[in-house]
Amino acid sequence: MEKTVETDVVYAAIHQVRDFLTPYLGLANTHGAEFLSDDHWGKYVSPAAQSGLLELSCENLVDLSSLTIQDNFKESNLSTAEKNENGVLLCARQTDHGVKDLGSFITEARMCHLDRLDVLTSLDAILKGRHSTQNTTSVVSEAMSEKKIHEVGIMVDAVSFLYRITHSDLVVDVGSGKGYFASEMSLRHKIPVVGFDSSDTNTHGASQRDKKLSKKWVGLERRKKLKQAYCHSDTNTDEKESAYENQDIHSPNVTLPCDVHTKPSIAVAPGNKNSNDNYNDYNSSGSSLCATKTFQSSESASLSRKSHLSQEEQMTNCNLYRPVTLFVHPEMDLCKVIQQEAQQLESTVSPRLFLSGLHTCGSLAVTTLNLFLRDPNAVGLCCVGCCYQLMEEQGSNNQQEDHFPISSCGKIMGLQLGRNARNLASQSVHRIRASGQLQGGDFLWRALLNVLLLELGITVPDRIIGMRGLNKRNATFQDYAAAAFKKLGLTDRLPEVHMLRSFEDQYKDARARMSAFFQLKLVLAPVIEALILLDRLAFLLEQDTVNKAHLVQLFDPVTSPRCFALIAWKGTLKNEPFG
Ligand SMILES: C[S@@+](CC[C@H](N)C(=O)[O-])C[C@H]1O[C@@H](n2cnc3c(N)ncnc32)[C@H](O)[C@@H]1O
Repeated sequence: MEKTVETDVVYAAIHQVRDFLTPYLGLANTHGAEFLSDDHWGKYVSPAAQSGLLELSCENLVDLSSLTIQDNFKESNLSTAEKNENGVLLCARQTDHGVKDLGSFITEARMCHLDRLDVLTSLDAILKGRHSTQNTTSVVSEAMSEKKIHEVGIMVDAVSFLYRITHSDLVVDVGSGKGYFASEMSLRHKIPVVGFDSSDTNTHGASQRDKKLSKKWVGLERRKKLKQAYCHSDTNTDEKESAYENQDIHSPNVTLPCDVHTKPSIAVAPGNKNSNDNYNDYNSSGSSLCATKTFQSSESASLSRKSHLSQEEQMTNCNLYRPVTLFVHPEMDLCKVIQQEAQQLESTVSPRLFLSGLHTCGSLAVTTLNLFLRDPNAVGLCCVGCCYQLMEEQGSNNQQEDHFPISSCGKIMGLQLGRNARNLASQSVHRIRASGQLQGGDFLWRALLNVLLLELGITVPDRIIGMRGLNKRNATFQDYAAAAFKKLGLTDRLPEVHMLRSFEDQYKDARARMSAFFQLKLVLAPVIEALILLDRLAFLLEQDTVNKAHLVQLFDPVTSPRCFALIAWKGTLKNEPFG
């Protein structure tokens, strides 16, 4: 049996990552626009590391964080690096907090990746090796990107299992977006879901999409049943196929808006769940005692109004997903909102809630964690964060809740990152590597603009808005400069074209340095993400009410770069993972 992660191990990991990262926070917080004007290359990369980087092939540069020093960094370049008597590099840091030695920097950074810190729990260990036996139905995956299909498939499997072991009554999907996860969960697993999203456009879109899917789902289920029926009859195979294929899945005679839900059911009174109500209680088609109970209430609600409803309405009304436009905050009373907005989904006034969040961006991840802890009805959690740059750090602005650090350990240590460092943590390291394309060079014109403005004696504004994408809309630096000066209201100060050309020429080697510098910074991205997630994991483990908390890699990082989930539950569960 796999062990569960201990708080001490997580604290030790936080210390290790903090100790490595702190001297490099200056580097991590650099911005491409200042690469030339602030001489980042000279300031944060030692001469030895500079030549090491420039000697690397593009292929190796893109893969920098995976490289080993022996293969890619020549001894001659190590003349300035400190070594012990065995020739082992002692310090990867430049005195002014930059990279002194490339090889050590990469090796030490790699030791701070989550998979090297002994803090991850495998999904298999949580699911006890019991993944769903169901295939993702194509109609549900409709209108989803490959990335979303991947995420939703895995997340739905994990949450449906956790929903059952936590004896939950309802899934609350926080930041539900277009409802991809919620539709899949409710249609495939017959689990009721209320989805909260602050964007009305999203919830409206989710509702429309879910209606379409529900109708298709009815047809699909019917088709599946017909297929099964024909396969069990003694009709010959050709006849079976032909009869089956001739069934029109969109036939107006479909009378089964609730057909999907007409599985044999056992009524379970709220708060009186069958003691065997665990994973084994649900069959391969996903029906469960809990789900049947909640479905029954929605089914009877739908039936009671049946005479007034069109067939289309009947179909969608037996749906178990309710998208609600609402800004989620940690103090909200979930049950009250559910009573008001999604009463048909839950018959008990005090339902056990499972909180899920797929790519809860910025602060929403921490809000979800706080909501899970504060709401006594919330019993389980599965939360994948994203967009770390959008969260607030302690002490910044006037935010109501701190988003980093949130653990007592992190607060005592005074952890700090900075916005550009959090932005870096949101980069897709695995994708960049898989693409084989060097990044960073795109910022060259923006960096040149800063230098140009300074040379002209113009104070560079702290933040120049509207420059994003300007390089893609212009074919040459001269055009770019003209567009940028116009945006800044400085058209009359724009130098002549020939001057701009010779200015650009002075920096013709800068693109290679910029790309190399970006790849160097990128080595820190998984380390910064590790610190953010370890702080969240420690925060959960520090709570008395939390029984188990795990950090789990759910997704393939190339397909879905923000791939780690925090999974937790309150109270001891019967037959729970890790016994
Ligand atoms: C990155 S999207 C993810 C959407 C969806 N879960 C998915 O995976 O497709 C984050 C969503 O959270 C919503 N959101 C952000 N902050 C929120 C808040 N405080 N309350 C409710 N929704 C929020 C946004 O509108 C957005 O739809």
